[in-house]
Amino acid sequence: MYAHIDTELNELIQKLPETPEGYITPDQAEFLYAFVRLTRPQLVAETGFNVGHSACVILRAMETYGGGSLISFDIGKYEATPKAAEVIRAKYENLHLITGDTKHTLAPTLVQVLNSNPAATLDLAIVDGGHDVETARTDMIVFESVLRPGGYLWLDDFENPVCVAIGVNIVGREFVTNRPHGLRFTTSDNRGMAIFQKSF
Ligand SMILES: C[S@@+](CC[C@H](N)C(=O)[O-])C[C@H]1O[C@@H](n2cnc3c(N)ncnc32)[C@H](O)[C@@H]1O
Repeated sequence: MYAHIDTELNELIQKLPETPEGYITPDQAEFLYAFVRLTRPQLVAETGFNVGHSACVILRAMETYGGGSLISFDIGKYEATPKAAEVIRAKYENLHLITGDTKHTLAPTLVQVLNSNPAATLDLAIVDGGHDVETARTDMIVFESVLRPGGYLWLDDFENPVCVAIGVNIVGREFVTNRPHGLRFTTSDNRGMAIFQKSF
């Protein structure tokens, strides 16, 4: 499914446990892979690991330029989630999975990571965890507060043509109201996302 993007990426994803819920589509994966290689982030964080499809895309793209680390967050409701992390970590030690509700884990983890590595900056953050208003809003606000100026904030599933996510749509609309530096994308495989650049 991802071989047209990168054969190594495809091989790794084939080793993962079956996915219990939605995951990054091939068109989004192609975009994310190219976006990471273009912007070359050193530290990336995502909410919503699931079984790690988007994580594999990010890690493989970072590997092509020798880039940094990925911190993935997941509430851990699926048995497959830690198993997938183990498979991925056998190849990429720069994956760190934090288990728990991001409403409680996201802010303290990011503060700890950034305070203990003064040279580190959060360059790219992806929100794809809880799709309810409260969780998506918290994830967006917390990420924005620690993102480096010029860094990118990706809101997944924003105004999907199918797989409608009302909570995400509400939060995306709130966000774009007073942040002009956002773009929306709709992929040909019927997914949407918005990407904001932190302008100051
Ligand atoms: C749509 S899936 C993520 C897909 C993943 N990005 C991929 O490409 O495979 C959403 C994930 O968010 C997790 N999740 C839901 N609510 C959460 C919360 N409050 N905190 C952390 N993770 C949460 C779920 O366990 C699920 O694995």
